[in-house]
Amino acid sequence: MKLTVAELFAGVGGFRVGLNHISEIDLENRAIEKGDWEFVWANQYEPSTKAQHAFNCYTTRFGLENHSNEDINKVNKDEIPDHSLLVGGFPCQDYSVARSLSNEQGIEGKKGVLFWDIKEVLVAKKSPFVLLENVDRLLKSPASRRGRDFAVMLKTFDELGYYVQWRVINAGEYAMPQKRRRVFIFAHKKNLNYSWKIQGQKLDINRDNIFNDIFPIEKALEIESLDLNEYKDVLDVSNNFKEGKFLETGMMVDGNVIHARVSAKVEPIFSLEKILSISRKYNADVEEYAIEKEKLNKWEYLKGSKRIERTSSNGHSYIYSEGSMAFPEKIEEPARTMLTSEGTLNRSSHIVFDREMKKLRKLTPVECELIQMFPPNWTDTMPKRNRYFMMGNALVTGIIARIEPKLKKIIESE
Ligand SMILES: C[S@@+](CC[C@H](N)C(=O)[O-])C[C@H]1O[C@@H](n2cnc3c(N)ncnc32)[C@H](O)[C@@H]1O
Repeated sequence: MKLTVAELFAGVGGFRVGLNHISEIDLENRAIEKGDWEFVWANQYEPSTKAQHAFNCYTTRFGLENHSNEDINKVNKDEIPDHSLLVGGFPCQDYSVARSLSNEQGIEGKKGVLFWDIKEVLVAKKSPFVLLENVDRLLKSPASRRGRDFAVMLKTFDELGYYVQWRVINAGEYAMPQKRRRVFIFAHKKNLNYSWKIQGQKLDINRDNIFNDIFPIEKALEIESLDLNEYKDVLDVSNNFKEGKFLETGMMVDGNVIHARVSAKVEPIFSLEKILSISRKYNADVEEYAIEKEKLNKWEYLKGSKRIERTSSNGHSYIYSEGSMAFPEKIEEPARTMLTSEGTLNRSSHIVFDREMKKLRKLTPVECELIQMFPPNWTDTMPKRNRYFMMGNALVTGIIARIEPKLKKIIESE
């Protein structure tokens, strides 16, 4: 099997940066791809804005060829080129399904839910391997019925003939510069050599899970199991799933699921301090990022602990409370999770004390890129505020880079 990839929800190309170990941009603004993965197709479309900053960044770095800027919902999935690996980071949405009104036999998910587009690609292209990324909340959503959404997802993969492995990885625990916790999901068709090896044997959460091999765990705790074969189909799971949330790592083989909580084997820390010192080379003058004196009170208030009386929409009054946050950031630790609101006047934005300037300041866009392990200036194709947003949406590319050699070996042995 060849190392061919289709990238969905490509954003500014985090999966590609990771798989092809990209750490630099050349003089023509193109990414220097050191890896062997051929991206046969990528799709990125931002429905909420006219400007397509992410798409433009991706094409500046990788060229226009094979890159689509169409709403994935409108893409004819049969026309996507064949590939060995399908990758993508997609949102946690409501994955419940209902019986289709137009077709008695069929089922229908809610409109605009991007997982159903992934499913359509899998049906049309029979992608042998799939690597996805999502927020860890996916494992326990929705709040009203814990675990239902992930169970729907697993049952969908099962019905399409896939085995699935997953793991919540906190990049900060594995020598990377951000404490970002995300769930990574690896699915593979059951008719592959790779899958045959684990067929019919007792599953071992350490041995048979690609993630736990690469991001070692100290211990698997509270191992639990469930059998999705007890549910007739995806509709049955959607209506009747009862088990509860899924734990941080797990596997599904022929509908049988085992899952467990893990304690990570923590590796040395890559601190925010180190990022600040690397970024000096790219941002000599950081004065413009200093927080204004007249806004200091506001920042202090946002970062501080508070108890506020609020009134809900039905007239109920309640106390909203939140604890205080480090202000400025503790730079001896990896950065906290970066959100799309990074850089704005917001409680979650990182504020650091700049020792040279002797002032409090926001992070620069380059620092945000470094925290997500993108090459410096990767997103300088767009306005600053969009650069922060793109990094909040992206992933720690180092995780993908670390999985890559193993993935390559697996795919090349097919
Ligand atoms: C979580 S982000 C993924 C970011 C990406 N992994 C990266 O490294 O930048 C999800 C992406 O899906 C895109 N998206 C949202 N709705 C879409 C749609 N209907 N069709 C295609 N892309 C869509 C968003 O614009 C966003 O870039």
